[in-house]
Amino acid sequence: MTARDPHRFVNELDEEALVRLVARLEGRARDAVFARLFEKYAERLALPAEARVLEVGCGTGATLRMLARRPGFSGLAYGVDQSAHFVEAANGFAREENLSDHVVFQVGDAHRLDFPPATFDVVIAHTLISHVTEPAGVLAEMARVVRPGGTVVIFDGDYSSLTYAWPDHAFGQQMDRALATATFNNPLIMRDLPRLLHDQGLELVEAWGDAVAEVGSGSYFRSFAETYVPYVKRAGILPGMAVDEWLEGQRQAMEAGTFFAACNYYTYLARRP
Ligand SMILES: C[S@@+](CC[C@H](N)C(=O)[O-])C[C@H]1O[C@@H](n2cnc3c(N)ncnc32)[C@H](O)[C@@H]1O
Repeated sequence: MTARDPHRFVNELDEEALVRLVARLEGRARDAVFARLFEKYAERLALPAEARVLEVGCGTGATLRMLARRPGFSGLAYGVDQSAHFVEAANGFAREENLSDHVVFQVGDAHRLDFPPATFDVVIAHTLISHVTEPAGVLAEMARVVRPGGTVVIFDGDYSSLTYAWPDHAFGQQMDRALATATFNNPLIMRDLPRLLHDQGLELVEAWGDAVAEVGSGSYFRSFAETYVPYVKRAGILPGMAVDEWLEGQRQAMEAGTFFAACNYYTYLARRP
């Protein structure tokens, strides 16, 4: 079987797999390492009062809830995701946090957004672009629905930099590549963004990279490995026993305080002229 990015093909997953992905998305957003990367771009967005924000590929809504909880946010944020399961979870979490007046979630495809042109002040893709079928088509839609002068934010990883320490370096590198291949439809897309944004008539305002690294103990990368290793096995990229041994070795390294994993993430802020 070939690799099938679980987020791209989320509507083919069974209930148990969906529950695991919901836990991963919610846990990741609570992880300080990752929340810091959202804060870094959120504080640069000069949102007008009553701002209208759209997140495409919103998953369980964790990113928009972080936005809505920020002091001074009094606008309306819309989240669109292709998964009805995630959208239902997103609406439930928003209700639990009394945020329903500020965040609204609906099912939709990022390649065909159901909004008129120039509707939003800010349009965000937070770890979406690495998963979609046609990145240029999604960027075209984001550029269409943001207002002139508004901002498009693209945040994602460059997954050729995803790496876990493993004593056998050759197998470790195979495993890093297998994880990137099994999990992301477009693992290298973030290096194409300067060109792709330009092609959509968007002006690059600011861009930066952050290395996320966990050394000694693991939390973000523990959940990443535990969530996505089953997709490496399902794709049959590497022998199943060797993959199990790798995961067990990573858990032991976390227990022993000898763990190491890292990945580079990039953020682009672009303006519609
Ligand atoms: C890694 S998750 C990110 C979720 C959310 N942005 C977050 O950071 O928690 C990627 C999401 O993109 C969604 N997705 C993938 N392709 C999509 C598409 N074509 N249209 C809408 N959503 C899509 C998946 O269903 C999944 O919820």
